[in-house]
Amino acid sequence: MEKTKDKKENDLMEKIVSLCKRRGFIFPGSEIYGGLAGTWDWGHFGVALKNNIKQSWWKKFVDSRRDMYGIDAAILMRQEVWQNAGHVENFADPMVECEKCKKRFRADQIEDKNKCAECDKGKLSEARQFNMMFQTRVGASEDSSAISYLRPETAQGIFVNFKNTVDAFHPKLPFGIAQIGKAFRNEITPRDFLFRMREFEQMEIEYFVRPEDWEKYFEYWKDEMEEWMEEVGFDMSKIHDIDIAQEDLAHYSKRTTDFEFEYPFGQKELFGLAYRTDFDLKNHKLEYLDEEAKDKIVPHVIEPTFGVDRAVLALLLSVYSEDEKDGEVRSYLKFKPNIAPVICAVSPLLKNKPELVEYASTKVYALLKAEFGCVAWDDNGNIGKRYRRQDEIGTPFCIVIDFDTLEDDTVTVRDRDTGNQERVKVSGLKNYLAEKIS
Ligand code: GAP
Repeated sequence: MEKTKDKKENDLMEKIVSLCKRRGFIFPGSEIYGGLAGTWDWGHFGVALKNNIKQSWWKKFVDSRRDMYGIDAAILMRQEVWQNAGHVENFADPMVECEKCKKRFRADQIEDKNKCAECDKGKLSEARQFNMMFQTRVGASEDSSAISYLRPETAQGIFVNFKNTVDAFHPKLPFGIAQIGKAFRNEITPRDFLFRMREFEQMEIEYFVRPEDWEKYFEYWKDEMEEWMEEVGFDMSKIHDIDIAQEDLAHYSKRTTDFEFEYPFGQKELFGLAYRTDFDLKNHKLEYLDEEAKDKIVPHVIEPTFGVDRAVLALLLSVYSEDEKDGEVRSYLKFKPNIAPVICAVSPLLKNKPELVEYASTKVYALLKAEFGCVAWDDNGNIGKRYRRQDEIGTPFCIVIDFDTLEDDTVTVRDRDTGNQERVKVSGLKNYLAEKIS
């Protein structure tokens, strides 16, 4: 029974990875040279999906609030940032190595501690700490002062700009600084598609509060995070908030709640919420003049953190659906219209009828493309094939221009989830779609 379930779940991951490649969402990194583990490249629809997720996050947490400031900090920072943040010393995972084939594993993830899972022969070494930061050198100098790291979290770019943000905007506590950007970790064993990558993206908020208020804002941010997840369309029945045990907390955290998702390969972290105390501001020797208390204080920090790539993976797993249409199994992605990479596809019923193509192109496609941007032109194969293709991309609406259109300026709009079709006036199409998106 257990085996059947495992197989079904592995099949689901395979189906999603294959759909992502086939339909131009996500490709293996450096593929024509054999691939580079832990890296993935984003195709046209993947970029659109990722952008919609990031925009929805930025809109909710930055644009619609008065207490949030955006930042886009450099990825390369001076090495003192990482020394004082504790990452040079502590940002490490325990690693073991097979004495025979030299394959390395994360010590906390191996099933059999006595034998190598790769070659099935070698003994495993004692665990040692492996620092996951990618080291690099800035400029032509060879001495150690030129050492820098690709940031393993975007958070430090926020902390080092705390004073700049306070001086520029004079915010009152509580307030936050938000950033979306790339992060890099030299993971010992990257795996499970977008789950554990070496180059990935984060959306992070550092929310600065008076020390005595931290618990209140911890609960507040937990609710905010859940609200956003619902808005985006994650399957909330698969998300669980788990308090992390004291001995497993990151070096900067006094309390962390992880939002875990039921992936096919197990229930694991999706997003996190940490109480970072005054750890980072203190270490960077930063403080804040509290005008209410007429004194300098070091604010405490609540950190809601979201991985963009894990968001995409959990969302794909949430919306992937199969049903039977016209005696065939069809697979489709049930994205909400505001998150779908393509809002609608425009199709002339027959591509060899110039009058249909002309109408579809100039009176429908051009109009909608100018308004929404993410509109597809699809005239390849018969209508059934076009619907299946758009279903797999997750396009909520397919608009077909037929001979009746030439007579009465109406088009057929077909709904992805129900397959239902309705006639809509071309003059009302923009509003029709705008309403669906909102
Ligand atoms: N600033 C806090 C921080 O970086 P984290 O839990 O280590 O905390 C935050 O990472 C989020 O980044 C995770 O919840 C996850 O969504 C994402 N993430 C972390 N490591 C990742 C990896 N190797 N590949 C993809 N996403 C990752």
